[in-house]
Amino acid sequence: MEKITHAHYWSKNPTKTDVFVSAFVHRFYPVLQKNKKIKKVLDVACGNGLGVSLPLLRRGLKVHAFDHTTAAIKAAQKNAEKEGFTLLLKKSNMHKPFPYRTGFFDSTFCFQAIYHGKLANIIFTLSEIKRVTKKGGYFFGTLLSYDMIKKEKNKFYMKVKLLDGKIIKSYHKQDKSEPHLFYYLNKNFEYMQPHYYFTKEELKSTLSQFFKDVKIRVVTRKNDLSVYWLVSGRV
Ligand SMILES: C[S@@+](CC[C@H](N)C(=O)[O-])C[C@H]1O[C@@H](n2cnc3c(N)ncnc32)[C@H](O)[C@@H]1O
Repeated sequence: MEKITHAHYWSKNPTKTDVFVSAFVHRFYPVLQKNKKIKKVLDVACGNGLGVSLPLLRRGLKVHAFDHTTAAIKAAQKNAEKEGFTLLLKKSNMHKPFPYRTGFFDSTFCFQAIYHGKLANIIFTLSEIKRVTKKGGYFFGTLLSYDMIKKEKNKFYMKVKLLDGKIIKSYHKQDKSEPHLFYYLNKNFEYMQPHYYFTKEELKSTLSQFFKDVKIRVVTRKNDLSVYWLVSGRV
């Protein structure tokens, strides 16, 4: 089996919608519907764009997006062009200052990505999301739930449905200083990639440092075993 990293995945599967592509942005359509002033938005860590950017473009929004892999940018560009849309893309790392002006966006989205790092990285990304989003604008996103983490004889694991449908126990190495941060030990699936898992209480207090009206719901996807926190907050 081949080793799957994000860059490798997007270059091989630029038009696929599976575990790497989120499926929950539609849950925020009622908010967009009510807030017609939300016109210009940012999609942080956009991947191939099919999870968030494209659905938002189809709703008539002006969408800017960035990702740190060239393969993702190319895939997102192609997917937008195929439908006749202009997606304003940049290559950038969410752990560094975002390449946009303060208050530039009416709202900011970050789905299935913000948890790739230490808590300090996540906090930095949240501070940048807050900075580039207008006062009164929203942050919408998904994060990983600690409820997925199981322990067996001092080993941590999570049940994962692989791309071929097989269910495996994916063992995780716990970070030495951050007990909710794990590195995937499965050589075929995001090997040694950091993933931070939040309890609802920790997430609420983290998001509340940056946003008002924080709302957290639990969501799962049919073909997957992942449990996500679906979150929103206002600047
Ligand atoms: C599971 S995919 C989700 C893609 C998209 N947000 C969606 O929900 O469909 C995670 C994405 O995060 C990107 N990513 C991971 N770490 C990043 C970082 N530090 N800066 C920018 N993008 C990052 C990866 O390249 C990948 O495209």
